[in-house]
Amino acid sequence: MDLTLKLKRKKPRHSLVARVLHWLYAPSVLTCIWSGFYINRPAKIYGFRNMNSAQKAHFIAQFTLIFAFLARVYYAFQKKNYKEILPNRQTIQNLPRFVRYELFLNSKKPQFPKYNPGQKLLFTGFVLLLPLQILTGLALYFQDSWQKTTKIAKGLNYLRQLHFLVALGNAILVAGHLYFVFTQGFKTLKSIFTGYK
Ligand code: HEM
Ligand code: HEM
Repeated sequence: MDLTLKLKRKKPRHSLVARVLHWLYAPSVLTCIWSGFYINRPAKIYGFRNMNSAQKAHFIAQFTLIFAFLARVYYAFQKKNYKEILPNRQTIQNLPRFVRYELFLNSKKPQFPKYNPGQKLLFTGFVLLLPLQILTGLALYFQDSWQKTTKIAKGLNYLRQLHFLVALGNAILVAGHLYFVFTQGFKTLKSIFTGYK
C-alpha cells in the first residue's frame, strides 16, 4: 500500500492540537524554571544580562503557560483524553512490574496503554502543581488585586517561598519526564514532533 495512504489511515499517537499545545507549555515551563531560578539567586551561568531580562522572560513564559495550560485542560475534557494521562486502577496494578523493569530486575520490557505508570504519575504531578504555580504566580504579579491569596499564604514573603518550592517540585517532575522521554527510544521522541511513532 502507498505509504502516504497508510499514514493517513493510521491514528496519530499525538493529535496536532496536543502537539502544538505541548510545544507551547513545555518551553514556557522550562523558561519559567530557568528565569525563576535566576530571579531567586542571580548568577552568570543562566545567561541573562540582568534582572530585567530575566523578569521579561518570566513574564512572557508565565502568560504563555497560563494560556496553554487552560487550553490543554479544555482539550482533555472535550476529547476525553484525560483518561490517557491520569492514572487509574490498572496503572497502580502495573506499577510493581514497571518499577522492576526500571530497576533492571526484569529484562523484558512491559507493555502499557500509551503512557507508562511513571509518566502517568509525573503528568498527574503537573496537573496538581501547575495550578498552584499559576495561582501563587498570579498573586505575586497582581499583588494589589490578589491580596486575599497573599493573606492565605501569611504574607508576600511566604507566598514567594511557596512559589519557589512549587517551582522546585515542577523542576523535579520535568527531570523525571525527560528521563523517560530519552530512555524510551527515538520513535517516541519523534512522535511529539510528527504525531506518529
Ligand atoms: C512552571 C511555572 C513557573 C515556575 C517554575 C516559576 C518559578 C519562579 C521562581 C523560582 C521565582 C523566583 C521566586 C523567588 O524570588 O524566590 C519566580 C518569581 C516570580 N514568578 Fe514564577 N514561576 C512559574 C510560573 C509563574 C506564573 C504562571 C506567574 C504569574 C502569572 C509567575 C509569576 C512570578 C512573579 C510575579 C515572580 C516575581 C518576579 C520578581 O520578583 O520580579 N510565575 N517564579
Ligand atoms: C525539551 C523538552 C521536552 C521534550 C523533548 C518532551 C518530549 C515529550 C514526548 C516525546 C512526549 C510523548 C511521550 C510518549 O509518546 O510516550 C511528551 C509528552 C508530554 N510532555 Fe513533554 N517533553 C518536554 C518537555 C516537557 C515539559 C517541560 C512538560 C511540562 C509540563 C511536558 C509535559 C508533557 C505532557 C503533559 C505530555 C503528554 C502530552 C499529551 O498526551 O498530550 N513536557 N513529551
